[in-house]
Amino acid sequence: MNKTAFTTATITDRKLYKNAGICRLILSFPGISKLAKPGQFIMLKVTEDDFMLPFSIASCRGSLMSIYVKIVGEGTRKLSRLKVDTELQCLAPLGNDFGSMIYSKKPSEIIMVSGGIGFPPLLSFMNKNFKHGYKFSFFYGVRKNTDLVELKFKREVDKYIASEDGSIGYKGTVIDLTKSRYKDTKIENAIVLACGNFKMLKALYNEFIKVHALQCFVSMETRMACGMGVCQGCVIKTNNEKIPYLRVCKDGPVFNADIIDWDCNPMR
Ligand SMILES: Cc1cc2nc3c(=O)[nH]c(=O)nc-3n(C[C@H](O)[C@H](O)[C@H](O)COP(=O)(O)OP(=O)(O)OC[C@H]3O[C@@H](n4cnc5c(N)ncnc54)[C@H](O)[C@@H]3O)c2cc1C
Ligand code: FES
Repeated sequence: MNKTAFTTATITDRKLYKNAGICRLILSFPGISKLAKPGQFIMLKVTEDDFMLPFSIASCRGSLMSIYVKIVGEGTRKLSRLKVDTELQCLAPLGNDFGSMIYSKKPSEIIMVSGGIGFPPLLSFMNKNFKHGYKFSFFYGVRKNTDLVELKFKREVDKYIASEDGSIGYKGTVIDLTKSRYKDTKIENAIVLACGNFKMLKALYNEFIKVHALQCFVSMETRMACGMGVCQGCVIKTNNEKIPYLRVCKDGPVFNADIIDWDCNPMR
């Protein structure tokens, strides 16, 4: 188990993808960056008065870590405007990781499905795991072409893009695209890793995972306060009566998709 620490990170670089409303931050995280694993996240305190906000780790190299921040509200707006050399209080690394769930299974293919800002944990997993010789297929869905962020992969990846308005790639949702790519295909021994909003993950599960009887691990996002398993503010409903709720921050954020109650209302 990794050691989580309250620590300080310094912004060493920032890049704004203006049209997409996404900012990439590179943080210097001496000591912590080496411990972090793909799928884990960090909590950042943007200002003294605010709660800490959770972000998935997109990459780690040496003492540097990158995150991608989609500007959706006050906290993310403030974070995206901070200057290089700003120091931030943070809690890291947090949660479980994709690898602890799948390393033993040696899948023939890893199908990655990202909706919107879901790509950071998937990117981190791919770039860390090319060395294992997995075949990766990456499905990336956006609303329109300007939402797309150019992602850098360490090696060649089969990449499929969908946009809802058809301005780039396949016209439709990323779930429609994934379904159409594997239509009439018998998928054997593949694993699906996915991250996106609840609605997208629910559609993925009902329309693709169940149809092909695949194993799927999802990285879930709910509102968080403490990030450490104490407040119970981040729970999701499971379909197990004995353990009806799990904490996304402590028991996740990565879950086997089979245990989630996809009929629940996630934003209580
Ligand atoms: C484990 C985890 C990993 C995450 N990774 C990333 C990431 O890599 N990049 C990224 O941009 N965002 C990520 N998020 C979401 C991010 O934390 C929120 O978007 C952010 O906290 C919103 O803060 P705000 O003050 O700007 O928005 P607010 O003003 O608090 O909210 C603005 C809008 O965003 C919605 N929202 C806020 N928080 C969440 C949330 N946690 N999940 C879903 N919807 C939310 C609200 O319902 C509201 O509609 C992650 C969340 C979790 C739990
Ligand atoms: S955020 Fe407090 S228990 Fe998960």
